[in-house]
Amino acid sequence: MKDKMIATQYDGKVLTEIAGFSISQLVAEHGSPVYLYDAETIRQRCRDLQMFETVRFAQKACSNLSILALLKEQGIVVDAVSAGEVLRALAVGYSATSDPPEIVYTSDIFDRDALQVVAEHHIHCNLGSPDMIPQLAEVQPGAEITLRINPGFGHGHSQKTNTGGPQSKHGIWHEQLPSCLAQAKACGLKVVGLHMHIGSGTDLEHLAQVCEAMERCARLVGPTLKTISAGGGLPTVYRAGQQGMDLAQYHRLWDEVRNRLAADFGHPIGLELEPGRYLVAESGYLLTEIRAVKKMGDNLFYLVDAGFNNLARPILYGAYHPMAICPVGQRTSNTNHDVVVGGPLCESGDIFTQEDGGVVSRRSLPAAQVGDLLVIGCTGAYGAVMASNYNSKPLAAEIMLDRGELRIIRHKQTLEDLIANERSALETVTR
Ligand code: LLP
Repeated sequence: MKDKMIATQYDGKVLTEIAGFSISQLVAEHGSPVYLYDAETIRQRCRDLQMFETVRFAQKACSNLSILALLKEQGIVVDAVSAGEVLRALAVGYSATSDPPEIVYTSDIFDRDALQVVAEHHIHCNLGSPDMIPQLAEVQPGAEITLRINPGFGHGHSQKTNTGGPQSKHGIWHEQLPSCLAQAKACGLKVVGLHMHIGSGTDLEHLAQVCEAMERCARLVGPTLKTISAGGGLPTVYRAGQQGMDLAQYHRLWDEVRNRLAADFGHPIGLELEPGRYLVAESGYLLTEIRAVKKMGDNLFYLVDAGFNNLARPILYGAYHPMAICPVGQRTSNTNHDVVVGGPLCESGDIFTQEDGGVVSRRSLPAAQVGDLLVIGCTGAYGAVMASNYNSKPLAAEIMLDRGELRIIRHKQTLEDLIANERSALETVTR
């Protein structure tokens, strides 16, 4: 099977079609900005991971119900970090009580909503703080639980996505595992799982270090252990020069750990992987229209109608996304220019071409004029889910291309939707 379109093939170029659909026609029909997903790319990424017996999608990366339903069809189970994410998983038919559980709640706290939803639906919990142990025991007496361990080190594509080590709020500090095991026992909970996630956008070298830490912790838990989870963090190639990961080698490392534990404990040990980005990043595109082209000193700006209200990764992490131009009118030039790409928001940081720390950078993009479209690629993970209504901008529509068909998977928020809640509150107060 031919591999799907990858970022490095279209970055800095002209792009007119995605999965056989005309980009300009999609925008003409669905408006701009709009998030587009190519279902076949998601299926391909699921196939890449099929050597892992349980792949648990970290839905925080892209929790649209239609994306979850597609992943469910591929045999992927799901992680949830909030009451809302549990409800999303239930809404597409994931079962809470299967073995292994199709839904796991992973967090470092139970807010009141989460505790209630977890209790009501008997959701298996992966606890990232010691205080969660008695809180869960109260609502799920006798439950089986997983403990999320912070192994004392972490790594991510940005310091903000590093989830291990003493500066991270995530997980139970590895030295506290024995006391948490005792506490769980005293509360009547049974520790059957261990989980480690050291960060997002990391690499094989750092991920491999987790194997050893996991094995050490697993021996402290002993034979009640049924499952180990390697967490997520698998990298995605956003730009030329970045390395993908040797998945077979990664699987081999974990398989060896699990086999050694199984031999020692005398029963099989389940192995889970918990990727978010890897499964969905490359499937997504943010399509946006160029509404102004202007010069500021030496800088040429393309200003588009999507901003960090739609895609926050560049302003938050200086994240690089591949970009292409889809000309709508007659192309007047075939040359590329070094440009700065910005959005519509009333804030200087609303720049898609920036590095960590907010340094504005330039990108080589084809000549474009007002009305042409900018395609921002690899936006399927941590794109639409991190959108906001800042500057009172409505959330964009999301559409999915699948086997030659197009489906709207989230309707564009209307301007009236934006203010309806407050309008009714205003009316209540003034009545
Ligand atoms: N498991 C846990 C417990 C996590 O906290 C995360 C991500 C994942 C799995 C999935 O990690 P992934 O495979 O996607 O790297 N907004 C940031 C990423 C934040 C990740 C938060 N946790 C970004 O846009 O890069």
